[in-house]
Amino acid sequence: MKISSFDEYKQVYQQSIEQPEQFWEGIAENFYWRKKWDKVLEWNFKEPRVKWFQGAKLNITENCLDRHLETLGDKPAIIWEPNDPQENHRILTYKQLHDKVCQFANVLKNNGAQKGDRICVYMPMVPELAIAILACARIGAIHSVVFGGFSAQSIADRINDASCKLVITADGSFRGNKPIKLKEIIDDALVQCPSVEKVIVLTRSRTPVSMIKGRDLWWEDEIKRVETQGSVDCPAEEMDAEDMLFILYTSGSTGKPKGVVHTCGGYMVYAGYTFTNVFQYNPGEVYFCTADIGWITGHSYIAYGPLSQGATTVMFEGIPSWPTPGRFWDIVEKYKVNILYTAPTAIRSLMSFGDEALQGKDFSSLKKLGSVGEPINEEAWHWFDEKIGQGRCPIVDTWWQTETGGIMISPLAGLTPTKPGYATLPLPGIQPVLVDENGKEIEGNGTSGNLCIKFPWPGMLRTTYGDHERCRTTYFATYHDMYFTGDGCLRDKDGYYRITGRVDDVLNVSGHRIGTAEVENAINMHSSVVESAVVGYPHDIKGQGIYAFVISPNHHGDEELARKDIMMTVQRIIGAIAKPDKIQFVSGLPKTRSGKIMRRILRKIAEGDTSNLGDTSTLLDPAVVDEIKAGAL
Ligand code: WT7
Repeated sequence: MKISSFDEYKQVYQQSIEQPEQFWEGIAENFYWRKKWDKVLEWNFKEPRVKWFQGAKLNITENCLDRHLETLGDKPAIIWEPNDPQENHRILTYKQLHDKVCQFANVLKNNGAQKGDRICVYMPMVPELAIAILACARIGAIHSVVFGGFSAQSIADRINDASCKLVITADGSFRGNKPIKLKEIIDDALVQCPSVEKVIVLTRSRTPVSMIKGRDLWWEDEIKRVETQGSVDCPAEEMDAEDMLFILYTSGSTGKPKGVVHTCGGYMVYAGYTFTNVFQYNPGEVYFCTADIGWITGHSYIAYGPLSQGATTVMFEGIPSWPTPGRFWDIVEKYKVNILYTAPTAIRSLMSFGDEALQGKDFSSLKKLGSVGEPINEEAWHWFDEKIGQGRCPIVDTWWQTETGGIMISPLAGLTPTKPGYATLPLPGIQPVLVDENGKEIEGNGTSGNLCIKFPWPGMLRTTYGDHERCRTTYFATYHDMYFTGDGCLRDKDGYYRITGRVDDVLNVSGHRIGTAEVENAINMHSSVVESAVVGYPHDIKGQGIYAFVISPNHHGDEELARKDIMMTVQRIIGAIAKPDKIQFVSGLPKTRSGKIMRRILRKIAEGDTSNLGDTSTLLDPAVVDEIKAGAL
């Protein structure tokens, strides 16, 4: 199942397009199924209705754990590096991970969790986070991981959207020198979450917490209880290929975040296949993905992808710049990392510390590098190539999305000739198309348009939790019979793809997807705010920064305080990741006569490019534009 030359890639790609079902069936053969499928694929994009490997039975944890025990039982599955380099690291072999997953799966069962229940996971980047999601999968419960940076309100919205029955969390977490009181945030969230019956709390930071009788339980006590019950084993629940595996919330251009749903069979096949091929993983290699399991990258490429392939995956609790900006490189050296998968924003941030941070570091173990989350600028690409890869390591610029489940367009490490800034070519099985605004497919090379995918792949989302219509309108209604990605893209003369960024009102801040409407709603919650408009602007480190234009006539002349209050409000409603970088107070917003905000104009002003704002004559009040221009930050 591992492609081993560029010629082979081209040949396999061709086959995968001509006979997609045979192709995917061949890939699926590499996994362990309790029962094989009756039908490879059934689909229409109209509803949408997509079913892969119908009739097949499996449990993804048998693929990630049990099937490796005989051959890799004593090999490291997870290497964990704590936030504080003084603290001991931990290594879990496949055998140990298997046992811990089974134990915790029994804890979940003891607390009433059953197949199909939704379980919210809000945890630091510790091995128990991986154990928690695998334990859910073991018993057929659906996990919904919420990134540790989200606020109580965001967690409550997500818990309520999926009616989660259980929450798994920790007392607190460490990231850099900032301790975060996770349990306290959960307590605030749960005030408005009637569906939650139990909260399981891991000891991590030893920060004082309030444990509510009958609801809150310590992870460690529950493990002891399982131990006294005797058997640690927990047989895996038999799942249908199309049963839900997890929900992961992501932002769009309108409304609240939506719960992207992935299923057991297709997702497993896709995560494993893409991991092995894109990174050209060889047995024994040490692989380090710097993402957080709270995002799709962590789900697919820290947990499920690598583990299903028997890889050794490094999990890092901390941040790249603490206690020194050489932290990633220390980890690379310490564990002799062979494959490093990170984000452009991290690369740019580490670049900004200068070459001193690289002095004396040993990069010799590295063989392959990867990038994900946003377009990588050429400067960062070359720095990564020269300073980190030392000119020896192929870089894979991997384009994909929460909704796609896994990597879609990317070089195969060392096989596909690369070009800085290009995600290059689609993986076998993936059929990208560029379309114009009328939805007409643009053929030929040297073109650009909106990126769509015209044929299903096993890792694609099946629905948005509790609202299938939203899934249809968001992804399948813009263009006829295609999945619309929301990204703009160009295809050069060689047929190479370069993603140019979102074409909708979605921002990409440090590789995190944030909807402008969501930030506006949060800002508008502040009592002195009448209205606001949020746009992105180019930011040296974050890729995009958040620029908010705010009408707030009653801030009593103290603009600085008003700014801080608005920041605090956004932090409360969404989380610190959505705090605006700039807030400009304005007396009005540029609107058309029908009342629509002209974002194009605001975007230009935020970018600092006011030379040509285009036609402003259709505006209700053109004078407001001059005022906004004059006050731009
Ligand atoms: C959006 C998806 C995929 C995991 C991390 C983000 C942007 C992602 C690339 C890339 C250019 C990229 C796109 C996409 N994006 N990877 N290699 N080059 N842009 O997942 O939060 O679902 O965001 O991230 O705009 O639509 P996500």
